[in-house]
Amino acid sequence: MQVLILNGVNLDVLGRRDPSVYGGISLNELETRIYEWAHELGVSVRCRQSNSEGEFIGWIHDAYDDADALVVNPGAWTHYSYAIHDALEPFAGPVVEVHLSNIEGREDWRRHSVIADVVSHRVLGKGPEGYRDALVHLQGGAS
Ligand code: DQA
Repeated sequence: MQVLILNGVNLDVLGRRDPSVYGGISLNELETRIYEWAHELGVSVRCRQSNSEGEFIGWIHDAYDDADALVVNPGAWTHYSYAIHDALEPFAGPVVEVHLSNIEGREDWRRHSVIADVVSHRVLGKGPEGYRDALVHLQGGAS
């Protein structure tokens, strides 16, 4: 199974963001952990991050033909990007939405995800481990 993991806007500066919310881990450390978990689980993954919504959407389009499953954390785009919603809709495989923080327990504007109705599974507030849960879920596991 080929899984594309897409992190969106501001996730490149993860290590500089509020550690009480995001845990202080850098994107590089996060991606290293994801590659280790994928190796352990026998899943083939590719991680990408962009602050450009157009680039992020282009990678989703490429995934229509190149990936079996998607794991997406669109960052703040989650809350207003109908363009990302519409790009995810035609993807034939499973899509897991991951957020490091529990967006449903934060500010009102963060509680709504415009992509929630086009994903097959959501993992909220589990920190970096949420990406592992997403991979386990895609393998048909319990998470
Ligand atoms: C986030 C939550 C979003 O509300 C925020 O804008 C982010 C990160 C998370 O992983 O918890 O950038 O997606």
